This record gives sequence, C-alpha cells and structure tokens, in this order.
Amino acid sequence: MQKLIQWIDERLPIVEAYNKHMGKYYAPKNFNFWYFFGSLAMLVLVLQIVTGIWLTMSYNPSAEGAFASVEYIMRDVEWGWLIRYLHSTGASAFFVIVYLHMFRGLLYGSYKKPRELVWIFGMAIYLVLMAEAFMGYLLPWGQMSYWGAQVIVNLFAAIPVIGDDLSLWIRGDYLVSGITLNRFFALHVIALPLVLLGLVVLHILALHEVGSNNPDGIDIKKNKDENGIPKDGIPFHPYYSIHDLLGVAVFLFVFCIVVFFFPEMGGFFLERPNFEPANPLKTPEHIAPVWYFTPFYAMLSAVTFSIFGLEAQFLGVVVMGAAIAILFVLPWLDRSPVRSMRYKGWVSRLALTIFAISFVGLGYLGAVPVTEGRLLTAQILTVLYFLFFILMPFYTRMEKTKPVPERVTG
Ligand code: HEM
Repeated sequence: MQKLIQWIDERLPIVEAYNKHMGKYYAPKNFNFWYFFGSLAMLVLVLQIVTGIWLTMSYNPSAEGAFASVEYIMRDVEWGWLIRYLHSTGASAFFVIVYLHMFRGLLYGSYKKPRELVWIFGMAIYLVLMAEAFMGYLLPWGQMSYWGAQVIVNLFAAIPVIGDDLSLWIRGDYLVSGITLNRFFALHVIALPLVLLGLVVLHILALHEVGSNNPDGIDIKKNKDENGIPKDGIPFHPYYSIHDLLGVAVFLFVFCIVVFFFPEMGGFFLERPNFEPANPLKTPEHIAPVWYFTPFYAMLSAVTFSIFGLEAQFLGVVVMGAAIAILFVLPWLDRSPVRSMRYKGWVSRLALTIFAISFVGLGYLGAVPVTEGRLLTAQILTVLYFLFFILMPFYTRMEKTKPVPERVTG
C-alpha cells in the first residue's frame, strides 16, 4: 500500500493535497452547530447527482412522455419511488442547508476580508443552484411545472427592447413546449451540475487558502506555537471528519422521516397541481413557485407601480435581481472592525434579526394568494430587506463594538 501511494505520489502529489486539505488543515477548535452545513451541502450535492443519474435512466424528456415516465418511475421501476422522493426531497433539503449555511456567514462575518472570494463563489453557487432547481422543476411536466416555467420565462419578456427576443431564445418556442423541456433537461442533467461541481471546488480551494473563520471571528493564524501550528487549530482529519459524521447522522435521520412519511410536505416540496399533467390551455388557480423561491417571488409581486415610464413588471424583475445582486457585494458593505455578531453592537444584531424576519415573512407571502393587506406587508418587508444592506456601511461603522478576545472562547 505504502509503495503504491509512493508510486502515485511521485507522479501526482496526493500526499501533499491530502495534508493541505485534511491531515494538516488546521481548523479552529470552536466550530459549533452552524459549521455542520458546509459538509452537509456537499453530501446533498452528491445525493442529488447520484439519484439524478438513476432517475435519468427511466425518465423520458419529451412533452408526450415526461409525465407518464415519472408515473412509471413511481409505480413500476424497482425502488423508483424512493429514488424520486430522495431527489425531490433532496432539492428542498439542499436549500434548507444552503440558507442555514449562508446565515452562518452573516452571523459570524465569514464573508469579510480575507474570505470575500469564498463568499462570491458561494453566491455563484447559490445562483446556479436556483437555475438548476428551476429547470429540474419543469421536468415532471405537471401543471405547476408548466405554468411556473411559463411565468418565470415571461419575466424576461418584461426587459425593455430585448425582452421578447430573449424569452423566445430561452424557450426555443413561442410558448413553453417540448423544445423547452428538452433544453432544460440538457442543462439540468449535465451543464449546470458540472458548473456547480467546479464552483464548489473553487469555493473550498479559496477557503483553504485563507483558512476557516469561526464563531468568534478571530484569526487563529495570529497565535501559533513553536512548530507554526495555530494554537486554537485542530487538524480537519480526524477531528472534524468524525465530528461532521454526527451532523450527517442527524441530518439523515430527519431527511428519512420526510422522505418516507411526508415526501410532499403538505404541498410545499411537491405541489398539488403537479400531480396533473401539463395543460397549456388551463391555468392553475394559484401559481406559486416552490418554497425556496417564494421570498423573491413576493418581492417581484410587491412592485405594483410604474416609475419613469418603466412597467411595474420590469421594475419587479429589477427588484428581484437586485435582492440577489446586493448579496454579492456584502463583503464591502460591512465596515465593522469585528467579524462576529458576538462582538458587534446592538444595531447590527437588531438589523440581522429584522432581515431574517423579513426574508421568512416574504417567503410566506410569496406562497399564499395576494390580498391588499398582504401586498402592503410584502412592500414593507421588501424595503426592510434592502435597508439591511443599504444602511450597513453606516451602522457597522458607527456602532460601538465589544473587545475581541485574543484566543477563541469556545
Ligand atoms: C453546494 C453548495 C455549497 C457547498 C457544498 C458548500 C461547502 C462549504 C464547505 C464544505 C465549507 C467549509 C465548512 C463550513 O464552514 O461549513 C464552506 C464554507 C463557507 N461557505 Fe459554503 N458551500 C456551499 C454554498 C455556499 C453559499 C451559497 C454561500 C454563500 C453565499 C457559502 C459561503 C460560505 C462561506 C462564507 C464559508 C466560510 C465559512 C467560515 O469559515 O466561517 N457557501 N462551504
């Protein structure tokens, strides 16, 4: 075995790579609950790829055959129901995990210098993940698949001048059709997963170049022992590889409960209209995207007025795009001298709380039919969402922060 490793290592530096990323990667010893979600996101990514490959073996990407092939997978393919429920539940689990993973970043200032690139790659992952989920959702060719895609692709048509041509180019047809289904299939099963994998590799490489942040937000590299090893660091393997197994076990337990007992999750993971085949002549009563898109959908619908002759729908698209774009520049909006919320002032804490409440609130409002009261609430929450970012350079600079300890506190 030793000889084999040596033989390979002379041709490909696997020992060096192992040491850099596992055996001699010193991670802060005070990781907590919030640090489980990076490894869990990787687990779910693998789960989605593997179950996706198996689904592809029996799925038929055509307008005539798609819906029936999914029913065939559910009823006739051996274990097909399990593979499909793992994949559909996996999609929602992915977003739960990624949202918690991102929230950890906000909580401990993990996006701040020197981890800006880690954050930017993370945001790119998030964007691609949304595209991946959106395209995957069309594949079962149910009513909600069809009309959801119709509504979202039509949003591109709201862009002045190029809009109509752009939406036509995306669909490949004048309305969502088998041609659209075919290209979404190609993008969903190969193009976007490849990009996603590449981005995850870059995300981890960028992180390991500068080292992980921690709940105290302090630099463990500032305190090294005589061997140059951070005093507050422990090798990733075996300490965190074993530690992360706890997260995996708890996650799989909860995940299996959902897969086996609540795969539809009351219509949130698999929406009811999607059990009917797509019908271009019949619009469902209430079109709402899957839960992980609803905060942005609520912002889109909150814009009901036009300014400077720009149509409300176009402005809605701009607001929705801006809600995501602003997250990219977060590292440059936070001017606080400290990273972690533990040492920031009360204004930052209040701002993050209001931000989280408005995001969840918008998520709820985007899932239910619009009423006058709900519209007004969505408008207020959209403003609060943006104020969190726009005011950040001011409150993070002006507020009084607490002294940061020299060493991690646990
Ligand atoms: C497929 C999706 C993703 C995977 C597989 C992934 C994986 C990971 C892993 C394994 C880590 C190190 C372990 C940890 O700190 O939890 C990490 C750290 C990090 N990720 Fe992600 N990530 C994903 C998406 C994202 C997204 C969407 C963002 C934010 C926009 C993000 C931002 C970060 C940040 C800032 C860190 C450093 C955290 C720290 O050191 O405190 N990641 N990621």
